[in-house]
Amino acid sequence: MHKQFAPRVFQLGYVALETPDVMRARDHYAETIGMSETATGHDGESYLSIGYEHHNIVLRQAMHKAMGHLGFQLNPGTELRQLVAELRAFGLGAQIKSDSQPGIRELVEVEPVPGTTLQLYTDIDAPAPGFKRTGVSPLRLGHVAVISPEGPKLKTFFMDFLGFWFTDTIAGISNFITCNREHHVVNLVSMPDQRVHHIAFQLKGNASHAMAGDLLAERGLPVKWGPTRHTAGHNIASYHYDPDQVLIELYTDMDVFIPELNMCEARPWHGHFPMAPREWKLTELAAWETEFAFSLAQA
Ligand SMILES: [Fe+2]
Repeated sequence: MHKQFAPRVFQLGYVALETPDVMRARDHYAETIGMSETATGHDGESYLSIGYEHHNIVLRQAMHKAMGHLGFQLNPGTELRQLVAELRAFGLGAQIKSDSQPGIRELVEVEPVPGTTLQLYTDIDAPAPGFKRTGVSPLRLGHVAVISPEGPKLKTFFMDFLGFWFTDTIAGISNFITCNREHHVVNLVSMPDQRVHHIAFQLKGNASHAMAGDLLAERGLPVKWGPTRHTAGHNIASYHYDPDQVLIELYTDMDVFIPELNMCEARPWHGHFPMAPREWKLTELAAWETEFAFSLAQA
């Protein structure tokens, strides 16, 4: 459905991961991905920044790996108390948390479905530790793919409450939605499991894929898929695992969505014009038909 109101949030801010070994995971994100640790928490949490905002990845010690919360930045000027009231009117309990983490004074926490916690905030400190020139050194955190048995409910929340636009689906299982110019900021995967499917970092340019691949190889980290061009989103993507077997995507060339026209900007590699939201088959994951070296269901 094409709608007229703008999303309440404009970007994915951070992804929190629970890990049995914070130091090992921290080493991957700091040294291999090329992020800077900006703070550590009382329970050994590690806050890591790509280069500008206080954190884009949060690592927390836990018995088992798991998805923590997802942070989305609200449009400037959003009144948090009013937001809580509107969430309640939408049928969801929500609370304002003060100083729950370094870098963010106040945020609204809401669990649209059990086990998926979102943190919504207007302001995050920008200590700007600088973009590293070592490691993969991505440009930004682009999107997160979440597996949930409550995919349709999550989609309703993201679209009907947060105002995300729907841009594509793969067989109705993987649903791509966005709150900004990129084809997808969230990918909701409906499956009987609850975890992060992958976290995606945007690289500086297509040449960065080669440099990232060499760097991962030097560190003994196999590239499990790609680089290849996707169909939904048409991003050139490669995937590797972090030390907890959380899938990390590195990508460039994501389709640019124009909500006013309900289509993506035309590109030479598009097989359909206009590139409007559509359904792709499960066999149509890669425009280059590149085989992948992992089980899609377990990735
Ligand atoms: Fe992705």
